[in-house]
Amino acid sequence: MAAAASAPGPITRQTILETLLAFKRTSLLRTAIELRLFDALTAGPHGADHVAHAIGAPARATRILLTALASAGLVTEHGAPGQEKFGLVEGADSLLVTTSPHYAGDAALVAASQQEWQSMGSLTDIVRTGSTHLDQDAGSPDFPYWQDFAAHGTFATRPVAEALADALGTWAAGREEIRLLDVGCGHALFGLHLARTFDHARVVGIDWASILPHARRNARTMGLADRATWIAGDAFEQDLQGPYDLVVLANFLPQFSEEDGIRLLRRVRSALAPGGRVALAGFTVGDFGPPREFGGRMLSLLLLAWTRGGEVPTTEGYVKMLRHAGFADPDVYDTPGLPTRLFIAAPH
Ligand SMILES: C[S@@+](CC[C@H](N)C(=O)[O-])C[C@H]1O[C@@H](n2cnc3c(N)ncnc32)[C@H](O)[C@@H]1O
Repeated sequence: MAAAASAPGPITRQTILETLLAFKRTSLLRTAIELRLFDALTAGPHGADHVAHAIGAPARATRILLTALASAGLVTEHGAPGQEKFGLVEGADSLLVTTSPHYAGDAALVAASQQEWQSMGSLTDIVRTGSTHLDQDAGSPDFPYWQDFAAHGTFATRPVAEALADALGTWAAGREEIRLLDVGCGHALFGLHLARTFDHARVVGIDWASILPHARRNARTMGLADRATWIAGDAFEQDLQGPYDLVVLANFLPQFSEEDGIRLLRRVRSALAPGGRVALAGFTVGDFGPPREFGGRMLSLLLLAWTRGGEVPTTEGYVKMLRHAGFADPDVYDTPGLPTRLFIAAPH
């Protein structure tokens, strides 16, 4: 598949400055989220002293932070210097106040996590050496980032899970029952969303023991605890306890080299029941053109920093892995508006 053409605008002093300053905006928002500063502004505009008291920080530091936040458009500011009042920008009451049902501030723990932050800070060394700088990499059982990922998911989790349920609808309607394995399930929202959509589905999720409490909690919250069971351990080593009608690998294969991806897909194939399917979901690169692929290409950089051989595959890369593992060519689905794809394949 040919990549969409991309013609970036010219590099100017302005674009250089904006790009170099971007990390400061990230720190501003992340700090305000960590201090729960937006909660302190729910009752209307307040001075820095009020906010300082609410967040438990010195007044001067709070004032300097608030004025910086205002300059970045993240809070409102009115009044003469020394008498400023700060308030919530439209949308912040819904998305950044912790008591809101639409609270999105937890995204900072994944998108701007300490671990990503540190890796991006060492990017020059990582690229120079061409490999992970971590002793304990993303493939190890207690890699801390997976805890936050399982606790909070990402903005794309729900729409991609919904797209997967849509793509599987016709196939699922033709099955008497669906025994489903969610590999590297994390929060298990992919498997659980499918179980909620298809009444006749039961989920088995596999992930490290330290991650499974998040999956169990979500199963309880979604009223699906009686249709979900869990396998703790390495998806490359554990007995997968098949046969399964459907095996889902969502945002999982990019962590591994192509060779390991094929090895895992062979295990998956041998765990499938007759008529069963494997479903892959996640970022692809090479199809959408550079701007829409920012997320996928940044993930490849993180995987360079965190794994030995992981990288976001192209569509052809996914198809090649499936072929080598003994699957027929997959049906490929777009997920509108997102740089992700779905691949659904049956064994040869
Ligand atoms: C990117 S998250 C994906 C979570 C979820 N499937 C999703 O799409 O949001 C990767 C998950 O794979 C798990 N994982 C990594 N290596 C694993 C392995 N060898 N065996 C089982 N789980 C593993 C991690 O603990 C993490 O929960």
